[in-house]
Amino acid sequence: MAHTKTKILLDGGDSEETQRIKRLLGFLDGQTTNPSLIAKNPEVKKLVASEHGLSVREQMAEYRKIVEAISPLVGDAGVSIEVFAEENTTAEDMLDQAREMFTWVPNAFIKYPCTREGLRAAEQSVGSEIRVNMTLCFSQDQAAAVYAATKGAKVPVYVSPFVGRLDDIGENGVDLVANIKRMYAAGDGHVAVLAASIRNLEQLLYCFLLETELVTVPAKVLDDWARNGFPMPDGDFKYTAAGKPILYQELGLDQPWQNFDIQHELTRKGIEKFTADYRATLSQTT
Ligand code: E4P
Repeated sequence: MAHTKTKILLDGGDSEETQRIKRLLGFLDGQTTNPSLIAKNPEVKKLVASEHGLSVREQMAEYRKIVEAISPLVGDAGVSIEVFAEENTTAEDMLDQAREMFTWVPNAFIKYPCTREGLRAAEQSVGSEIRVNMTLCFSQDQAAAVYAATKGAKVPVYVSPFVGRLDDIGENGVDLVANIKRMYAAGDGHVAVLAASIRNLEQLLYCFLLETELVTVPAKVLDDWARNGFPMPDGDFKYTAAGKPILYQELGLDQPWQNFDIQHELTRKGIEKFTADYRATLSQTT
């Protein structure tokens, strides 16, 4: 396989799939999970069907089992575990979950949404050396806020721009990744860009070209990469833009995170969907 500087993570919620992909690639740097992926886990689906839903405690126990099974299979990019966060979930509530989840495995990263409360939680987390992955990032302002909120972190921090979901609304999602990389080039390097919501091989190759520090990829795209002989982007590689360009903004990173305009409709919708998928695994009486 050709060499890439980009670390490759699997975007999934099933350790058997992790094993298969690790065999296919010969390595796997890490994995990201989220509430929708956990709801699709075969064991969780079986339990939900046979017990008419899980209690909150059982759901957590299943999530932990999944993460514990994945953890030893992956490398130092770790396993990202997402807190349950609704629109009105406070940073304190997220932090309580994070402290517990961070003890599950030695290579845990905690996922918080790019919202005000998520950023507050991240700010405090890095202070207590909890590694974080800021998810549902759809704008350069949000990425700038992640940088500012976690400045001085002694542990790795990831920000996850969601490429495919921006394509879905007619914007060229990979532009956001390129813009964040460009903006961070003027910074101190404490936040790594983890390209997420990857839907096809072309997006994956473009992330390699941009030299994003990390990319999280669903199994079917990695299957496609393998089927095509693990191609790498060469001098002739041209990315077919998926929508209208996302323009670069000049944003100074040396300001408080509260100064940035972090609202984004897709972040709100993403939280709504994760919440709905999580709730669908719970019993009515929970
Ligand atoms: C990232 O960590 C998310 O799990 C993921 O990439 C979301 O991708 P989707 O837009 O295909 O759901």
